[in-house]
Amino acid sequence: MKVALGADHGGYELKEAIRKHLQAQEIEVIDFGTHSNDSVDYPKYGFAVGSAIIKGEADLGIVVCGTGLGISMAANKIPGIRAALCSETFSARMAREHNNANVLALGARVIGGGLALDIVDIFLKTEFSGGRHALRVDLISNIERGEMI
Ligand code: RB5
Repeated sequence: MKVALGADHGGYELKEAIRKHLQAQEIEVIDFGTHSNDSVDYPKYGFAVGSAIIKGEADLGIVVCGTGLGISMAANKIPGIRAALCSETFSARMAREHNNANVLALGARVIGGGLALDIVDIFLKTEFSGGRHALRVDLISNIERGEMI
């Protein structure tokens, strides 16, 4: 599995912790930055991670900003990206099982580092259930294409 990572300055330190956590498990990581605490614009990093998934360069993505809000909004503007902002583990599991989320968004100023890593682990190990959920996810794509449901 290949995981794309991206964060603004608000998420930089948590993104670094996630990168080390994944690399310690020998999970391949593509790190789109940012690479310091200097102020940057979160949409660029949400776009970089989302694009990598759409291009097939990564299987799943993780984006982090202060709240997880702005960077998930940016990623979700890319057709085919389903970014889920999670602050607890149940939503992380459901985001994969039911919604086939391909990007996890985290708010570094919202949750602690230990919980964030648990959320990451659950998100990455949970498979999409398919079945009736696949039909619903297809309906999301219909909306994206401007088709009436
Ligand atoms: C940056 O200060 C902050 O606005 C950003 O990290 C994020 O929380 C935006 O949604």
